[in-house]
Amino acid sequence: MTALSAADIAKYREDGFLVIENFVSSAEVELLRDRLERVINGDFNRICEPDDYHWKKGRDADNVTRFMGPVWRCDSVLGRFTFTSDHARVVAELEGEPSIRLYNDYVWYKPEGGKPIEMHQDAAYNTWVQPPRVAACWIALDETHADAGTLFYVKGSHRWGAQPPEAELFLPPSAVGSDDTSWTAYMRQFAPKGTEVEVVPLELKAGTAAFHSGWTWHGSGPNTRSGTGCWAQCWRCC
Ligand SMILES: [Fe+2]
Repeated sequence: MTALSAADIAKYREDGFLVIENFVSSAEVELLRDRLERVINGDFNRICEPDDYHWKKGRDADNVTRFMGPVWRCDSVLGRFTFTSDHARVVAELEGEPSIRLYNDYVWYKPEGGKPIEMHQDAAYNTWVQPPRVAACWIALDETHADAGTLFYVKGSHRWGAQPPEAELFLPPSAVGSDDTSWTAYMRQFAPKGTEVEVVPLELKAGTAAFHSGWTWHGSGPNTRSGTGCWAQCWRCC
């Protein structure tokens, strides 16, 4: 069970995100890695399929970023993990609400050569919640590195206000080189005048969770690290 301090909650509200080490055990990391690898390859133990695929085995190249969701309804083990009530309690406390509703979960895998995910605000894509307000949790299932496709947050950017959603989050392979930062360009135009844009890479141990507000700008860079892929599980709630 994760105990939040008043300082943790204050940091989440100040920065727009909070990192919690050892959020899941090494045994859970192993279990999640196994089940997520199965579902991303189309091996489901429930009859429902995910709605959203960005990579399919046999259809897409190996260096395309894998993304699939929801995974709770195609695998019973992932379903039990995603709907762990203690996870929901952490988000509710961070957001200052008595309860929250979980509405989706995803698997991410950024392979070597994987391209960036453009900086965006999650809540901008979830306007069926009125007023739009969501929060997310991203759990690293590998050690993550700035040059290996990890998640990046823009500190304090949840206070910049709501902006329209970026049209294309998955940049095409031709769009970027290894040192290109075009995946942050959309976000930068909305930084208030005089604000230092502080882009923070999440360099984490496996089992660490990062929680963020739905208005916090975030995205992930290219994976340019040789021989390294990055697995993550994430879920969103409102
Ligand atoms: Fe996101």
